[in-house]
Amino acid sequence: MNHSWVEINLGQLRKNIRSIRSAVNPGPEIIFVVKADAYGHGLLPIAQAASEESVRWFTVAYLDSAIALREILPEAHLLVMGYIDPQQIDLLFENRILPIITDLEHGLALASEARSRRKVLDVHLKIDTGMGRLGVQWDDVAGAMEKLNSAGGLNVTGVCSHFAKVEPNAPVDATLQAERFKVAMECVPPTAFKHLSSSRAALYFPEWDFDGVRQGIDLYGYGAADPAGRFLTSPILEWKTRVVQVKSVPPGFPVGYYGTHTTEYPTQIATVAVGYADGYNRSLSNRGDVLIGGRRCAVVGRVSMNWITVDVGPDANVKVGDVVTLIGRQGEEAIWASELSQICRTIPYEILTSINSSLKRKYIEQ
Ligand SMILES: Cc1ncc(COP(=O)(O)O)c(C=O)c1O
Repeated sequence: MNHSWVEINLGQLRKNIRSIRSAVNPGPEIIFVVKADAYGHGLLPIAQAASEESVRWFTVAYLDSAIALREILPEAHLLVMGYIDPQQIDLLFENRILPIITDLEHGLALASEARSRRKVLDVHLKIDTGMGRLGVQWDDVAGAMEKLNSAGGLNVTGVCSHFAKVEPNAPVDATLQAERFKVAMECVPPTAFKHLSSSRAALYFPEWDFDGVRQGIDLYGYGAADPAGRFLTSPILEWKTRVVQVKSVPPGFPVGYYGTHTTEYPTQIATVAVGYADGYNRSLSNRGDVLIGGRRCAVVGRVSMNWITVDVGPDANVKVGDVVTLIGRQGEEAIWASELSQICRTIPYEILTSINSSLKRKYIEQ
């Protein structure tokens, strides 16, 4: 009762996968982005459910996540998008994990480790077409490929890049990136598996699907609610907790640290078991809402480490133990991570990945 919990609807995840697949079929693979513990949803249960829906490709940021995935997905293609220390190459071979080459030096170091074991490592080459982050610069790819080929030890089975900005109504920057990607692709083996788009590009631009689309946020149900897009998805995560105290208070009653809220009328203040230590953003102080008994109630006073205080109104029949929905639906009302992210001036990704990973995740099929 003193801890919030997270409910993940795997049935809705399956619907999201089917919705995307029916829009992009026949054609590219869904490369499910399950980094950051599947955007806070729990790596293994999410990947298992997706694999049951015939998703064959998964990508993560770190090697340890890929090794954990390999234990439950013996056949899947597993791609690590972050930097992999060449000294860890044995783990790549043992677990059949694909690294990306983040730059020429990295590629040559991996090649040298592979050669010293008399092996050939399958890799994907990351190309920087405008993100300014990981990857060989798009106009250096020809030279890099020449050096990698003559070094030996690597088999470039895939090639990828990442969009910095996708504006469906003014795609000038994304178009430039896609053009650069096409130029760079002429320097890699024609059989290489090509992937460029993530969720937003996949939603609006079929011409950039190539062989696979790396999709994260839309599979978790965000960013794909526009009827003009190719597919629709819905959120799969709800975050809930309980009321731990209700008190009736007079007007002029200060609530929480530094009394940043003072009641204007006689009301009831419910103390609710969640705080910033659980990942409930402190910017929601005096600004967020929660759902109790199907009604929106305002968060009043500052969000503290383990509790928040909520004005449930003078007439509400709210009791200790009542369920409070922080993210999710109660009847006609819903609060999603997108709403919280606007209040907190961030993005749904950060709201979702900030939910403390130690909180219990319950997986349901609905
Ligand atoms: C390289 C790369 N590809 C794909 C994705 C997935 O993006 P999205 O969740 O917007 O689909 C990310 C997310 O951060 C990424 O870093």
